[in-house]
Amino acid sequence: MKILEIKGGHKLTGTIRISGAKNSVVALIPAAILSSEDVTICNVPDITDTKALCEILDFLEVDVKKATESLIINSHNMVNKEIPSDYTKKLRASYYFMGALLGKYKKVTMALPGGCSIGARPINLHLKGFEALGATVTNNDNIYTVEAKELKGANIYLDFASVGATINIMLAAVLAKGTTIIDNAAKEPEIVNVATLLNNMGAKIRGAGTSSIEITGVEKLNKCFHEVIPDRIEAGTYVILGAAIGENLKITNIIPEHLEALTSKLEEMGVFLDIGTDYIIVSSSNNYKPINVKTQTYPGFATDLQQPLTPLLTLCKGQSKIEETIYENRFMHIPYLNQMGANIRVKNQTSTIIGPTKLTGTDVVATDLRAGASLVIAGLMAKGTTRITNVEHILRGYENIVEKLLDVGAKLELKEI
Ligand code: EPU
Repeated sequence: MKILEIKGGHKLTGTIRISGAKNSVVALIPAAILSSEDVTICNVPDITDTKALCEILDFLEVDVKKATESLIINSHNMVNKEIPSDYTKKLRASYYFMGALLGKYKKVTMALPGGCSIGARPINLHLKGFEALGATVTNNDNIYTVEAKELKGANIYLDFASVGATINIMLAAVLAKGTTIIDNAAKEPEIVNVATLLNNMGAKIRGAGTSSIEITGVEKLNKCFHEVIPDRIEAGTYVILGAAIGENLKITNIIPEHLEALTSKLEEMGVFLDIGTDYIIVSSSNNYKPINVKTQTYPGFATDLQQPLTPLLTLCKGQSKIEETIYENRFMHIPYLNQMGANIRVKNQTSTIIGPTKLTGTDVVATDLRAGASLVIAGLMAKGTTRITNVEHILRGYENIVEKLLDVGAKLELKEI
């Protein structure tokens, strides 16, 4: 078992370079199989989610060449076979093989996806989209078969602007006959990144990044070269850390516009941010005002950053609130933060953080990826030693987290016990 041992209380200074976005690359890899030619993806983060998707490619007999930070995917010899749960349960994004295989072969059989236990996370909107394109869906003991004689463009309205459903429907629709319109589509930057890959491959997608996406089906997709956008959630996590214990901590290789909902809230708190074209420099202060945050779909405040933000709010003088509107169960970090000395109550999907309080290291559990990030921040802020178990969750989404933090002066070690 791996644990992360953190000796907290050290100021962090220097530069952290942000990696390619997890939530982009996990869709780009399945999307690549829609072409039978070489698709080169660069700026690929070395995280376990990427590895798990490469294992699925390997299972499907797709040829994958790995180079530093890039993957060349060629599905010329691919075999479309049932993907068992041993593969799909490792991550949520395995569900993008549904849209991609359906789009390419008009048939897919696979087990339900896994991922963090942060709520019910149904896939009804994905399936509704596939059905609108003409597919039938059957479910035998949680093994889904989605198939169609032919996929035909359709007008699809999403009841909720789901990231996964928007991407999955795009994947299924790019090779369909005619035009598909997704209304109330999600607008996250990762969706634009996936649409750009598909367009580079020869797809015809307009409107990605707005709430109405139009996809005109094409016969075939070709080879292409594509870059993963910087991870706005990884970037946000380190900016928050800088606001807590940074001394001119520079976060580079980012797109600051993708972080506006966070940076405007931090500025409201009294954090001074030097925001450049592709970097943010941040230092901590001892005079923070409490804030109220409500998670929303992009461009609102990202749900993935509410857990990392929470330990920072323990420094504010007064009562801050975080309302979680996307997931039903994203407060599992709170009992551990309270064990460390925070004063946080959770009621009706809202956490109330009463500060300022001082954090002290103790033994805690990373229940999910962003809860883990929250505890890493808390551990680095805290006096004494914090030991985090279930570190695997953190390694799913943060490339080289230990090395990146050691480089800026943190004291931490990943130990095998
Ligand atoms: N939803 C449905 N039905 C559906 C799909 C979604 O009810 O068919 C609900 C979900 O249950 C949830 C809400 O809609 O309550 C949002 O779900 P969405 O589909 O937008 O999220 P997702 O695609 O499952 C991605 C990211 C998440 C991130 C969300 C929101 C990936 C692999 N995951 O999930 O990332 O929180 O979008 O931005 O891209 C993370 O990185 O820690 C993470 C959880």
